[in-house]
Amino acid sequence: MGTLRVELKKVVDDSYDIEIGYKLSDKLIEDIKNGLAGNVHRFAVITDSIVEKLYGKDILDKLIAAGFDADIFVFEEGEKSKTRQTKAMIEDAMLEKGYRRDCCIIAVGGGVVTDLAGFIAGTYGRGVPFINYATTLLAAADASVGGKTAIDTPLATNLIGLFNQPNKVYIDIATWETLPQREVISGLAETIKHACIADREFFDYLNDNIDAILAMDKIACEHIAEINCKVKYEVVMKDERESGLREVLNLGHTVGRAIETVSDYKLLHGEAVSIGLVAEVLLANKLSYVSDEEKDAVIKLLDKAGLPTTIPDYIDKEALVKKLYTDKKVRDGKLRFVLQKGIGDVVEFESGVFAKPISEEEAREIVMSI
Ligand code: GLY
Repeated sequence: MGTLRVELKKVVDDSYDIEIGYKLSDKLIEDIKNGLAGNVHRFAVITDSIVEKLYGKDILDKLIAAGFDADIFVFEEGEKSKTRQTKAMIEDAMLEKGYRRDCCIIAVGGGVVTDLAGFIAGTYGRGVPFINYATTLLAAADASVGGKTAIDTPLATNLIGLFNQPNKVYIDIATWETLPQREVISGLAETIKHACIADREFFDYLNDNIDAILAMDKIACEHIAEINCKVKYEVVMKDERESGLREVLNLGHTVGRAIETVSDYKLLHGEAVSIGLVAEVLLANKLSYVSDEEKDAVIKLLDKAGLPTTIPDYIDKEALVKKLYTDKKVRDGKLRFVLQKGIGDVVEFESGVFAKPISEEEAREIVMSI
């Protein structure tokens, strides 16, 4: 007997467009007619109970009017729905309706919808194409771009998922008008994170224009949509699978994700990330990567945006410290943190290494101080 080798070297082109604009559903249908999903004629629109009425049903109706076969699959809105159970429920409903490999999924919604639907697309029939139609600032700023898809488990967020790139991302700024103010503010945390890691000028812009953004000023919204995408895709293009550089997009998330879970999702993702950004800028300041003025400026901007900058009283801080160990960056049982260098840059600790081991005592000290 001997050894047989299966040669499976791959050259993959997963490039895609991100279209930013207003009321893009007609453009989506036009693109599909022009082959965005290949010669697929069956579309599963996946959305949540709020977005269904606002935008999901409209997209479904337009698909059917254009002569496509389409159904809508709806789950209860909120991070608590981003579970294996919801994934299975939608998959079973799609199977029941006869969806096979010759279909395309259209995720219409915020980060919960795009994360969940992208994961379903990656495993349904061993993989079908999907399109993201982002209807929140948070999805526009982060979740819909970059191909991270996942569900949460009782232990922590996003530990089970796939890297799976969409065929196209639509960022419909008009949809932000229907967002509750709390959701807009939550989306701003990822926006401020992008400024902190990559763009000092953008940080200053946000400082000067927070009120205009919250008032949905057209120029300001277009600007933040564009810069968010640029910061994100420039990182993703260099390190799609997070073997190094992409960890910088985790700034604020080591503490942020842990606090989101410990709060039992009472804190929205962006609110939790905001507190995480505070914790991590305090740590960066303690380690002399960030000056006192820069640390104060980051906390002041988060505050100005209406984001929380302290840990709510109902959070068990000791439980939070323990929860830090569920972070994906943990290596050999050690906590690792991304740290900003001033404002608009991150620390590269050695070539290609962007996260630093931090002792539990140091992490606890920071958590206890906010
Ligand atoms: N949200 C972090 C990333 O996409 O890598």
